Amino acid sequence: PHIPLPPDMYGEGRKNSRGVNLTINSQLEPLLEKVRHYDSQQWTGGPMVANKLEADPALKQTVVSPFDHRQTVGTVQWANAAQTQAALDAAVDAFPGWNATDVSERAAIVRKIGDLLEEHMPELMALCCREAGKQLSDGVAEVREAVDFCRYYANRAEQLFGQTETLPGPTGESNELYLTGRGPFVAISPWNFPVAIFMGQIMAAVVSGNTVVAKPAEQTSLVACRCVELMYQAGLPKAVLQLLPGDGPTVGQVLTADSRVTGVAFTGSTETAQVINRALAARDNAPLAALVAETGGQNAMIVDSTALPEQVVADVVESSFTSAGQRCSALRVLFLQEDIADKVIEILAGAMQELELGDPRELTTDVGPVIDADAKAGLLAHVEKFRAKGRIIAEGKLPAGAEHGHFVVPVAIALDDMNELEREQFGPILHIVRWKATELDTVINKINAAGYGLTMGIHSRNEGFAEEIDRKVRIGNVYVNRNIIGAVVGVQPFGGMGLSGTGPKAGGPHYLLRFATERTRTINT
Ligand code: SER
Repeated sequence: PHIPLPPDMYGEGRKNSRGVNLTINSQLEPLLEKVRHYDSQQWTGGPMVANKLEADPALKQTVVSPFDHRQTVGTVQWANAAQTQAALDAAVDAFPGWNATDVSERAAIVRKIGDLLEEHMPELMALCCREAGKQLSDGVAEVREAVDFCRYYANRAEQLFGQTETLPGPTGESNELYLTGRGPFVAISPWNFPVAIFMGQIMAAVVSGNTVVAKPAEQTSLVACRCVELMYQAGLPKAVLQLLPGDGPTVGQVLTADSRVTGVAFTGSTETAQVINRALAARDNAPLAALVAETGGQNAMIVDSTALPEQVVADVVESSFTSAGQRCSALRVLFLQEDIADKVIEILAGAMQELELGDPRELTTDVGPVIDADAKAGLLAHVEKFRAKGRIIAEGKLPAGAEHGHFVVPVAIALDDMNELEREQFGPILHIVRWKATELDTVINKINAAGYGLTMGIHSRNEGFAEEIDRKVRIGNVYVNRNIIGAVVGVQPFGGMGLSGTGPKAGGPHYLLRFATERTRTINT
C-alpha cells in the first residue's frame, strides 16, 4: 500500500528553489547578462586548509575550457602531502566541538550557504560552463540542486538530530536513543556535477556533525574553491571543512588510507569506489568506516509495442544526449520491442541529425563537449570498434571549429546483446537492443545480471507492464513514460544499488542517517 509521509517529514514549509524559464526573455536576458559578465574572468584557487602551509609551485595547474582549449579559465594550486596531513589533523581536532554544536546552529549556517549559492548563481553557472563545459540550462539546474540540498538537509537535520527519543524500560530506568556525527569524513566528488554533488556531500556531512576534508575532481577544482569561499563566508568554520584540490595519489589515496577517517562520501566510477572500499578495509586499528558511494550505471529503458514512438524518442534524446551523456543517470541501453523498433529508430535518427553540438554558452546548443581528451579518446575508441562491425545506426554531426574542443557526436549503436558492453560509456552514446514479446524475462534478467542498479526507464501504455518490470528489477530510480534524468531533491531521492553504489538516496529523507551514528543512554535512576 502507498502510505504518504507525514506532512512535516521534510520540514515546515519545505520548498525547492525557484527555477529560471530560459524560454521567457524577461527571465533569460537579465540572467544571461550577469553570466556574460564572467566571460573572460580568470579565477585562482588552491588548498583551503585551516593551518596555512607553503604551497608547492610545481603543483600549479592551468585550467582550460573543454569546449575550446585555447581559452583559459584560471589557475589552481594542487595540494601537497604536507597540506593533506595538516587538513586531516585539523579535521580530527575540530570534530568534537563541531559535533557538540547545537544542530540548529549548524543548520542555520547550511541555510545561509544555500542563500549565498543562490545569490551567486550567475558566477557559478559561468564557472560550470567554462571549467566543465556545462550548458546554461544545466548550470541553472546545477546551482538550484545545490541550494535545495542545503535547505533540505538543514530541515532534515533539525528533525533527526534535534531530539532524543525516549524508549521504554523497567521502572527506575530511563532509556534514550539519539543520533550524532561519526567523525572526520572525506568527500570525493565528480566533475559532472561540480557544484550540486560537491555541495550535497559536504552539506550532509557537516550538518550531521562531522568534519570534512574534501577532494574535488581534478577537472573542476576552481568551482569547488569558489564554493568553499562562499561556505566560509556563510560562517562555516575553516577546520570543519577543508579543501584539497589535487590528484588521486597525493590526496585521495592518502586520505582514504588514514586510520583517523571515519567515513567517505564518494561519487564517481565503480572501480574507484572498489579501490576506496579496499583501502578503508586495509587500515590497521582504524574505525570501521562508513562508505557512502554513488557510482556508475548501465542504465536501460524497456519500450514495448504500445508506447508512443514520438514520446519515446523525445525522452531517449534527453536521457542519452543532453549534458553530453555525462550523467550517471543517463540512458545507455535502449530495449525496443521488435514491432516498434524500426519506427522509433527512424524518428530517432532524424532527431539526432537535428542536435546542435557546440559552444555550451550558446542557447541553441543541444550537446556540449565531453570533459577532457581522455574521455573523448575512450568514447571514440568504443564507437570505432562498433563502426568496424557495421553497427552504427544513427549519428549526429560535428560543428565547425570542433577541433578546438572535446566534442563527441551523439551515436546510436546496434547490439545483439547487452553483454557486448564491457563497461559504462560516459558520453553521448546510446546502444539499442531489439527484443521479442516472449523475451521480457530474458531482458529483465540481463539488466539485473549486469549488476548495476541506478536508473531505468519503462515506456508502455499497457497497464501492468511497468509494474511487472518494476517488481523484478533491482534499480534505485525507476521512471515510467518519461526521461530518466534530473532527479529533484525531495522529489526523486537519487541513488542506486549493486555496482551502482552502497544505496544512499541523495535528496531523500534517510540520506543523513548514512553520516550519523546512533547512540543510546540508559540511566538507572
Ligand atoms: N542526479 C542526476 C540526475 O538525476 C544524475 O547524476 O540526473
